[in-house]
Amino acid sequence: MPERAKKNIGFLVSGRGSNMAAVLAEIADGRLDAEARVAICDNPAALALKLAADRGLPAVLVEKKNFPGRREFEEAMVRVLKEYRVGLVVLAGFMRLVGPAFLSAFSGRVINIHPSLLPAFPGLEAQKQALDHGVKIAGCTVHHVNEAMDGGRIIAQAAVAVEPGDTVESLSARILAQEHQLLARAIATLDLD
Ligand code: GRF
Repeated sequence: MPERAKKNIGFLVSGRGSNMAAVLAEIADGRLDAEARVAICDNPAALALKLAADRGLPAVLVEKKNFPGRREFEEAMVRVLKEYRVGLVVLAGFMRLVGPAFLSAFSGRVINIHPSLLPAFPGLEAQKQALDHGVKIAGCTVHHVNEAMDGGRIIAQAAVAVEPGDTVESLSARILAQEHQLLARAIATLDLD
């Protein structure tokens, strides 16, 4: 039987990078059989850039404003990911939709984490949307990425009870703690062969 290829991960990040950090910690502790190859960030002010550098992960800034359009921007990210031999792209707080130029290069190998129980509350401020609707069970989802906002097939979910008096901040913090566990677990379940 052929040996299963190791998961070579490339992260796409725009902000804080705590989900990326959680996956890096699982790999470093030997709990996730994967290799982090590179982080691509579209935001020069992102904390995730420093976080990657501190952990010895190559971090590449690719800013959309430096390209004539979305296709060229995505092609540049694909070039970096191929250069680093990435086989699985993990969107972890990447604040953009990815389009056909990107998805066709990594077909079935792009996943995202979102702080709601999809298909409820896609898009921005998912935790606020959940509170505004009065849901009693919130949570987070790891899903395959397609061209729709938070739209691809679901890989894994975790539920978080909404407590009386919850604010966006308190609920977001409890969901984030679940996200940090869920993302690595979801990566482990993926069969990419
Ligand atoms: C997370 O809540 C994630 O679900 C959403 O954006 C946030 C990113 O947080 N897509 P971080 O940058 O991983 O800390």
